[in-house]
Amino acid sequence: MACDPGVTHPMSPQTPIKGASHLGWGMKNRLMRLIRPDGRCFYLPIDHGYFLGPTRCLERPGETIRPLLPWADALFVTRGVLRAAVPPDVSTPIILRVSGGTSIAGHDLADETLVASIEEIIRCNATAVGVSIFVGSDYEKQTLKNLADIVSMCQPYEIPVMAVTAVGKELEKRTAKYLALACRIAAELGANVVKTYYASEDFEKVTEGCPVPVVIAGGPKCETQREVFDFVYDGLQRGATGVNLGRNVWQDPHPVAMMRSLHALIHDGLRPDEAAALYGELASSEGPEASG
Ligand code: 5RP
Repeated sequence: MACDPGVTHPMSPQTPIKGASHLGWGMKNRLMRLIRPDGRCFYLPIDHGYFLGPTRCLERPGETIRPLLPWADALFVTRGVLRAAVPPDVSTPIILRVSGGTSIAGHDLADETLVASIEEIIRCNATAVGVSIFVGSDYEKQTLKNLADIVSMCQPYEIPVMAVTAVGKELEKRTAKYLALACRIAAELGANVVKTYYASEDFEKVTEGCPVPVVIAGGPKCETQREVFDFVYDGLQRGATGVNLGRNVWQDPHPVAMMRSLHALIHDGLRPDEAAALYGELASSEGPEASG
């Protein structure tokens, strides 16, 4: 066999988790909670406030997530919002954001540090943690060290690490060449999952060059729902394991319809046109009062 296919879900022998076959039981158990037996995942991020403040439609995060959680495979959240706005009986796995320390008003978003200890990660009962890296920035080395340090902190407890290949304000960096570089470096430093952006050209180079699952982030809100369905579908066809979509879900006029349609595209095999039709049906059945 040319390469390690990863650990296989007992319920679905066709869908191994990439790069996980040699990990310990605790790590496999947590990864299997984060990636469904169909080999796919749909994470709901609400961590934006850690540098953006009260982001539109996330001013009251507890209210934003309440109707969306049934369709989320994990919630990506800071410890502050977790304690303040997420009920402790939540059954959705928590991915705790543990890098930060910068803001949109500061000198450079890339100048991040680690903001939670291993004791705090365990106290929050996190299934995994997430940390940003800024490859190519003035803070490349510092943020890569943040990633290496959190991997060293989490490995003894078999807690998976999701690396976030962040670009700060430089959205034009989102080319397959750059993203492949950043994703591979993240995996080399020990990330178990890598979150990155979608690129319309050569995206398979990003997923093929990364020995662990790649999850796509959404970025700023798209003009139409169809654009979102198209890039998510294409990313999955080209090797992504799933998505971590925030603004394109909870800033949509019909967030529940968007969440459910994306869930059906990711987990039930709907094509973009079918997901768009489902969105139309669900949105019209919610009625105009559901628009936000
Ligand atoms: C913000 C993040 C977000 O989790 C990520 O960008 C996904 O959210 P969106 O789909 O809104 O871009 O890491 O720092």
